[in-house]
Amino acid sequence: MALLQNPVKGRYRGVSVEAARKHYDLPDDFFRIWLGPSLAYSAALWQPGDTLEQAQDRKMDYLAEQARIEPGQRVLDVGCGYGTEVKRLLEKEGISEAVGITLSQTGADWLAARKIPGLEVRVENWADHRPVRPYDAIISFEAFEHFARPGMSQRRKIAGYRAFFEQCRSMIAPQGRLVVQTITWGHRFPLERRWLSDLSMAAKNYPECNPAFLSEVVAASDGLFDLVAARNDFADYSRTAAAWVRNLDADWEHSVDLVGLKKTQDFKQTMTAAVRAFASGWFYLHRLTFSPVEQPTKPARHFLVNNVIGRF
Ligand SMILES: C[S@@+](CC[C@H](N)C(=O)[O-])C[C@H]1O[C@@H](n2cnc3c(N)ncnc32)[C@H](O)[C@@H]1O
Repeated sequence: MALLQNPVKGRYRGVSVEAARKHYDLPDDFFRIWLGPSLAYSAALWQPGDTLEQAQDRKMDYLAEQARIEPGQRVLDVGCGYGTEVKRLLEKEGISEAVGITLSQTGADWLAARKIPGLEVRVENWADHRPVRPYDAIISFEAFEHFARPGMSQRRKIAGYRAFFEQCRSMIAPQGRLVVQTITWGHRFPLERRWLSDLSMAAKNYPECNPAFLSEVVAASDGLFDLVAARNDFADYSRTAAAWVRNLDADWEHSVDLVGLKKTQDFKQTMTAAVRAFASGWFYLHRLTFSPVEQPTKPARHFLVNNVIGRF
């Protein structure tokens, strides 16, 4: 399989290391307080009556099913955080090898110290990743929001996302699956000053982040991957953020000791805004499953389809 030499040349490589570390390189125990013992920093998949941990487990079962995980496989996790997903795939699903890449040194050090058999953790941008062999599956949970920054044109956003899909296409086995979970922009938007100011506060907490519109993700993957399953679970993010706020409230003083009052308040305000933002559909939460096309093509055959074939 020919691996692409430099698919991102001239294109946006995502959030800077400095900005990512500003958000993620905080004490592990601070994240444990509000994310809970799974340390999963992404929306869970809820059923009525679930605890946060049960809902996080359900998300990971869904991911394993969508990625068609089987024992003995080799899996890449782009944006592995504290390794919640890869750890589970190794321990519960019996995959033999996992590579987790992240920009956060703190999370990577924590994960490497667990010495999980079969796991390689790398502090690396996906754009620089050069695997020795293709992967049977690639997963990426809530890293995609970091692949565009505020103020980018739609064209530039799509070009950057396309570099990601080209890179994934070059690293995946022909029968492999790519599973992406990402926050996307919803079709509603708040106009009240109070919510707008909360959202701008949230943007400061996540520097250089700008979610995609689903249409941008689809345009960027066109001709490289087929989108074979999609669901939009924005209410699940609202419920996850509400659980995070409850956890933070329950151990508030400990959090203040670890990161200070200002940061604890900023996280609470951001997550409280998220409860409302996702419940209201200002943001969506897409879980997308892609299958690589056999022969990659350029995107946008729309002219041909609409203006030539479509005329008959
Ligand atoms: C919100 S966390 C999600 C972590 C994990 N997937 C989970 O669900 O718990 C986003 C992760 O994406 C990583 N990330 C963001 N941009 C990246 C890039 N260009 N290359 C590799 N990792 C990236 C961050 O370092 C962080 O580990």
